[in-house]
Amino acid sequence: MNTQMTREEMIEALRWQIEAGADEAILDAPIDRFAEAPQAAPQTTPKPQTQSTAPKPQPRPAAAKAPPPPKASAPAPATPAAAPAQRNAGAHELAAGAKTIEELRAALQAFDGCALKATATNLVFCDGNPQARIVFVGEAPGAEEDRQGMPFVGPAGKLLDRMLDAIGLDRSQALITNTIFWRPPGNRNPSPDEVAACLPFVERVIEIVDPAVLVLVGGIASKTLLATNDGIMKLRGKWAAFETPRMSRPVPTMPIFHPAFLLRSPGQKRLAWRDLIEIRQRLDAETGTGA
Ligand code: URA
Repeated sequence: MNTQMTREEMIEALRWQIEAGADEAILDAPIDRFAEAPQAAPQTTPKPQTQSTAPKPQPRPAAAKAPPPPKASAPAPATPAAAPAQRNAGAHELAAGAKTIEELRAALQAFDGCALKATATNLVFCDGNPQARIVFVGEAPGAEEDRQGMPFVGPAGKLLDRMLDAIGLDRSQALITNTIFWRPPGNRNPSPDEVAACLPFVERVIEIVDPAVLVLVGGIASKTLLATNDGIMKLRGKWAAFETPRMSRPVPTMPIFHPAFLLRSPGQKRLAWRDLIEIRQRLDAETGTGA
């Protein structure tokens, strides 16, 4: 069979990979998966085949046949809150030892338990005020955050700033962080292992800041910290409670749409606005003074 691709097919295949999020080289040298294909043919089905389902070498997918690229807002895999705690006992210990946000940052710098650290340019941890009464937890750094080592500084971050401004807040009155502290290559969704590795540090941020209100920005943060498989469409706009054994009380917690989602779906801004008003009112009620 002729597996030679035309130039146009190669360009289409590359475009398909970029749209699917594979926009970075992870290894120094390319791997020719076609060359591997004959050995890789699975031999795992002992049952006789009644019809010919044996895998045939496939030509490179043309764009028309390609599956749709995963959306950046695709729901997260099953929540890592159920991930075995013993798998990252070291992370728990390291996080628990930090008494301030800066100590926690230093602990994360020394932490090698998340594979994303190897491919990221910078640690992206917190921005804002550790004394703030409100904490926002997003998803994971994107390209701009990775470059600058700061959360929410790309296009979604600009919209998050406008969302804060809409309720009279700025970064000096909020603490902003993420569920994941290193950029997943190509902005893919973080894996359950990656989320589990970072979770003790996210929890410790909330314990240290001890906010009056917690805002979970997008589906991944919401599922992770609320330990649920419900999606953001169901969770947004409803008050929940977040607590760890080291906290003296549960924190009122509101999931909201992620600004990256709102950039793609501006029609949903109406609901986001409603949620922001709720958050502002709760913050005022909890603090008695406004932020
Ligand atoms: N999206 C996030 O969830 N966090 C960031 O820091 C940037 C984009």
